[in-house]
Amino acid sequence: MKFYIATDHAGYHYKEQVKEYVRSKGHEIVDLGPDSPERVDYPDYGRKCAEAVRDDPGSFGIVICGTGIGISMAANKVPGIRAALCHDAYTATMARAHNDAQILAFGERVVGMGVVQSMIDAFIETPFEGGRHERRVEKIDAIDAEYRK
Ligand code: RB5
Repeated sequence: MKFYIATDHAGYHYKEQVKEYVRSKGHEIVDLGPDSPERVDYPDYGRKCAEAVRDDPGSFGIVICGTGIGISMAANKVPGIRAALCHDAYTATMARAHNDAQILAFGERVVGMGVVQSMIDAFIETPFEGGRHERRVEKIDAIDAEYRK
């Protein structure tokens, strides 16, 4: 699998550990910044990751801010992107199985690295179930399409 990762300053300190973990599982991960812990604005980086995932079909993303809330909100503004704010392996599993999320979001101030690793494992290992969930995911995209008119 190919991942893109972006954070703000409050998620920056987990970035290297997350990259190392994803690579240790045999997957590719591209760092979209930031390159230092200087203060930055989470919408810029949520958007950056979401656009990279949108432009590279089949890829996935990881976004991290203090809570995961702001950066996931920003990522979800990019049409077609489903960024899931997760807190544990269960929510990360369901984000893939039911919501076909392409982006895993979480908060560095909320979850420890052990939980982060379990979420990444769940996200990587869980396929989208399709079936009745397909129609619901299509309805999410239909909202984007309707408001773009
Ligand atoms: C930065 O202080 C913080 O507001 C940001 O990382 C995030 O938690 C916003 O949702």
